[in-house]
Amino acid sequence: MNVIRLRRSVLSVPANKERMVHKAMGLNADEIMLDLEDSVPVQDKEGARRAAIACFQEADFGPKVRACRINDMQTPYAYRDIIDIVEQAGTSVDVLVVPKVAGPAHVSAIDLVLSQIETALNLTRKIGIEACIETAEGLSQAEAIAASSDRVEALVFGVADFTASMGAPPIGVSGHGEGETGQGRWYSVLCRLAVAAKANGLQVIDAPYGDHSDPEGLFASCRLSSGLGFDGKWAIHPSQLETINTEFSPSPERVEQARRVVAAYEQAAGGHSGSLAMEGKMVDAASVRLARSVVDKWEQMHGSRN
Ligand code: GLV
Ligand code: MG
Repeated sequence: MNVIRLRRSVLSVPANKERMVHKAMGLNADEIMLDLEDSVPVQDKEGARRAAIACFQEADFGPKVRACRINDMQTPYAYRDIIDIVEQAGTSVDVLVVPKVAGPAHVSAIDLVLSQIETALNLTRKIGIEACIETAEGLSQAEAIAASSDRVEALVFGVADFTASMGAPPIGVSGHGEGETGQGRWYSVLCRLAVAAKANGLQVIDAPYGDHSDPEGLFASCRLSSGLGFDGKWAIHPSQLETINTEFSPSPERVEQARRVVAAYEQAAGGHSGSLAMEGKMVDAASVRLARSVVDKWEQMHGSRN
């Protein structure tokens, strides 16, 4: 059974930036991801790893999910990231975020190593995996990756690397979704990832919006992926957290409406009615399932936070 967590906002922080890491602990992010990969220069890889270990050992994350993005499995840094982080701080890490997952073999390799370390250290809690799908190769095996291990908790879409792997032109300076208006050119990719994740009981997370001075662009980007069932989005700046948290939560009006739908349906023929009219609209069993999913999400959110 894959683990479901509150991860509307995933704040990505370079592990070698001590002040940013310290500040992140007090921010309203559901998950803090200490990054060892693309935001850390090659000459700082070892220092960043040591800093991440110290942070996991010492910092108070409160209820936030404690995540570490390791380096790409095709680099010489990845194996040492896994071993050092988990051996030295495994009791204080919830998930490893694995970039550029190319296929299920990447996940299986990590799964086996994690099992060995967990057994050797008598760790009772299994460390989870968030698998980043951000290459054409990875996307072509998204379903197999999602099904590859019960450690996989979420699929993550990385738009910048994905665009690069497609040989497609960048839009905007960062390549992280800025200027991708409307449904955008990768709409079908978002849909595929959402289906691959949900078909396997996983969550699905959208990567960051690269322009933190463009709140409208961030909002549009959140609306797009949250509308497809995505559970959250990365943030690269504290100013993005509020919009992301709001956009990946059901609004109080929607929850209220969902409760009315469930109540009306249960009242009518003890919940065995085929369809009925409510506020001039047709409500049937599917409407009720949908309404219940909104209420469940709300209750899960509030249960796990308060
Ligand atoms: C994130 O890692 C991305 O490549 O967009
Ligand atoms: Mg990437």
